[in-house]
Amino acid sequence: VRHLLDRRVLFFGGKGGVGKTTCAAAFALAASREGRRTLLVSTDPAHSTSDVLETALGPTEREILPGLAGLEIDAVREARRYVDEAKSRMSGLFGPAVLAEAARQIELASAMPGVADLAVFDRMSDLVLSRAGVYDLLVFDTAPTGHALQMLRLPDGLSSWVEALTRRRREGLEARASASGADAPGARGADPVLAILEARGARLSAMRAEFGRADRVAFVLVLIPERLPLEESVRAAHELSEAGIAIGGVIVNRVLPDAASGGYFEARKAQERVYLEEIERRLPPVPRALVPQLESDVHGIAGLDRVRACLVAESAPRG
Ligand SMILES: Nc1ncnc2c1ncn2[C@@H]1O[C@H](COP(=O)(O)OP(=O)(O)O)[C@@H](O)[C@H]1O
Ligand SMILES: [Mg+2]
Repeated sequence: VRHLLDRRVLFFGGKGGVGKTTCAAAFALAASREGRRTLLVSTDPAHSTSDVLETALGPTEREILPGLAGLEIDAVREARRYVDEAKSRMSGLFGPAVLAEAARQIELASAMPGVADLAVFDRMSDLVLSRAGVYDLLVFDTAPTGHALQMLRLPDGLSSWVEALTRRRREGLEARASASGADAPGARGADPVLAILEARGARLSAMRAEFGRADRVAFVLVLIPERLPLEESVRAAHELSEAGIAIGGVIVNRVLPDAASGGYFEARKAQERVYLEEIERRLPPVPRALVPQLESDVHGIAGLDRVRACLVAESAPRG
């Protein structure tokens, strides 16, 4: 999947345990070795990027090697920041009585499922939209498939919601303006709520536009040659194409090496061949990389280097 080195944003996703973190870290390492300033970002609440890199990462960017930085988005911290920001934005807009009630409502809402995802998505947007000048490539190590896709599809759902709110606000302002004479003070343009909504809307459209750029943004499906990960990847491929997000490559991890022989391995390899053939047939025709099952688990730069070599090996073009 060498061709992905020239993308700007890559998401590594797949079923739990298939090797997303390993492959995302190995690919980020590959990119940095090829001179691309790379940021590896974990959005999986069960972070293991620090473990695989043997470097403690936190909520802010930290250099791992020259040209390679990493961070783990902390959902709880981002949700807190999101809620505090919402409160402080309101403080200029309403009187103390309304404000106290609104703050209470926001606190209640902040415990609702989905707020953490929203907050993580917000941080992701910051990185995608405003760190592009600092890094050549952002590599996202995502949560297991369903959760990751839900997050990537947030801009679609949110856009129509923000658009509806904006429309209602504008209609309300216009109604008020015409009731009190055509050029009443406080007509649209000066309204702070409308300004916030419009800024939100603009950011969401920017993210949607970015996600739709197949030459810049791609999702990399990681799986192992077994039934359940395969079915999950097939579903993810459909959902991604519906969401208009390009699939840039497929990584088949933990493929038994030729050297594995004997009755037990022969039986496993026979099963593997069935799934490899299905992977070929049922997943979109994008470049594949095969990573062998290594004799030990993968951690540290030396371990990742072995996986890296498989990911960026020169491969025959697919026909
Ligand atoms: N090709 C491989 N050979 C051996 N062990 C692997 C390989 N790929 C991943 N692993 C190990 O499998 C485990 C799960 O990998 P990880 O990347 O954390 O998966 P995920 O992020 O998808 O949950 C880790 O212990 C990792 O070291
Ligand atoms: Mg992981």
